[in-house]
Amino acid sequence: MNSTLAQREKVYRAYMDFFEKAERRRRWSVFDDIPWDKVEAVPHDETAALCAETFCGVEMYLPDYVAQGINCMRDTFGHGWFVANWGYEESKHALSLRMWLEKSGHRTWEQILEFERAVLSKRWEAPFTTPRQLSCYGAIQEQATFVIYRRQLECARERGDVVLAAVYEHISKDEAAHAGFYRDVLKLELEEDREGALADLAHTFANFQMPGVGLVPEYDARVGVMRSAGIDRNVFLTRVWLPTLKQLGVSRTDLLRARRPAVVPASSPSPEQPAA
Ligand SMILES: [Fe+2]
Ligand SMILES: [Fe+2]
Repeated sequence: MNSTLAQREKVYRAYMDFFEKAERRRRWSVFDDIPWDKVEAVPHDETAALCAETFCGVEMYLPDYVAQGINCMRDTFGHGWFVANWGYEESKHALSLRMWLEKSGHRTWEQILEFERAVLSKRWEAPFTTPRQLSCYGAIQEQATFVIYRRQLECARERGDVVLAAVYEHISKDEAAHAGFYRDVLKLELEEDREGALADLAHTFANFQMPGVGLVPEYDARVGVMRSAGIDRNVFLTRVWLPTLKQLGVSRTDLLRARRPAVVPASSPSPEQPAA
């Protein structure tokens, strides 16, 4: 078996491991696993609504994420099937947030439809174009999204909103699992071609931006309101980037050595707001 076939086999095994755990331990229903019967008692909180609406907006670019991801990844079975399953799991994130916004009375159905129209009038374009670079992006972005949703979970619990807390708890478990799969794939990539994978990781980090930037309506104004509920650069480094490197067995020195000369680093990654 040549190297490429062996690598595809390993990605398939990683996907089957991910999928088995998802099927056996992580499946949840937007209908049955959120305590909607308690929604009447949800306290009104406009900041919480703005956060939920903004995250929902980022999650709603799902057709673009799936279309571009699956076309990029299709040549490797495990990758392609991951994107298909990922799309199903991500679809529940936007659904459950929309359901909370409407059922809790924070938004009318008409407002949700208007927001949907504004969101879908723009398209997300993949910031990277190779499967390995998209895996690097996925590992960072999913971990950042996990951290953001965990923060929202804590806020919802503090406010006594058990309904939104349940939504965020389910979503954040999904995001953690997605980050884990991308890290597993990156470990395989590092075994296969360490220098190439390190160069892609350095390139992706230097040019990293969360997917909603410039797409979600009134994004900048939303970020201003949401700042306390999001993650700043320090949190991004300590809870997203450094733990990801640690789990990959990569040091910052490794990355500096691997950085391609052509890369012009962004002044700073822009992790400040939400992701899918
Ligand atoms: Fe995710
Ligand atoms: Fe998501």
